[in-house]
Amino acid sequence: MTAAMQQLQETAAYIKQRVSGQSAIGIILGSGLGNLANEIKTETEIPYQDIPHFPVSTVEGHKGKLIFGELGGKKVWVMGGRFHYYEGYTPQQVAYPVRVMRLLGVETLLLSNAAGGVNTSFKVGDLMVITDHISLFTQNPLLGKNIDELGTRFPDMSEPYSKQLIARVQAIAAKHQIKLQQGVYLGVTGPTFETRAEYRMIHVLGGDAVGMSTVQESIAAIHSGMKVFAMSVITDLGIREEDNIITHEEVLQAATDAEPKLTLLFRELVQEL
Ligand code: HPA
Repeated sequence: MTAAMQQLQETAAYIKQRVSGQSAIGIILGSGLGNLANEIKTETEIPYQDIPHFPVSTVEGHKGKLIFGELGGKKVWVMGGRFHYYEGYTPQQVAYPVRVMRLLGVETLLLSNAAGGVNTSFKVGDLMVITDHISLFTQNPLLGKNIDELGTRFPDMSEPYSKQLIARVQAIAAKHQIKLQQGVYLGVTGPTFETRAEYRMIHVLGGDAVGMSTVQESIAAIHSGMKVFAMSVITDLGIREEDNIITHEEVLQAATDAEPKLTLLFRELVQEL
């Protein structure tokens, strides 16, 4: 067995021994979108710092935890706090919890994020179903020796976001008259927001939204054979006439405002899985 696989198994074994129960559903929530975690009937919470080989937080006072509990009548794993490349984690560290979830039996991964809109028909507060992504401006988490036990060296990426899950969420949204946009998420490293020229470039390249997370997690999930669903909340508009600046505070506020709709969609999707 590779050393990397050995580590992952040690991590998964520790978590299994702390939790009684199983789940095939994993959820990772984006900035300002953590409220869903409050809807969970928590059974066990494990601080990241207690979990062997888990990435250690670089931000002072940033207390991440892995939550096991119930949502919509189903058991779920939820990461309270995700790891971003811009914080100084390697792409492999960003992907680590996804791989651990796989070893814990997760088959479906739900992701959310805050993103900048570059599709000129988008408005702040829109929800965008991610139908595809462009990850070439970030580092691939599969670089390095392949972990053959998890998946193939050269994974196919023609359906990074499950069409079946997208259709289900679209039906749930229609039932509740929630408007959904859909489009391509382009992943960047951050932590700078983009210049006006960069937003325009992203638009020309086929991006509808841009953000600093998600793509590395999806790649690791697809590599290890999971189905992925991901949704962006459009928190700011990259392509714009106004000479306003973009701040982290406004991004968080827009995410918080849109969150109830996203929570409803995720909860009902989980119920149906
Ligand atoms: N760019 C990149 N990441 C983001 C943005 C943005 O405009 N908004 C929220 N996350």
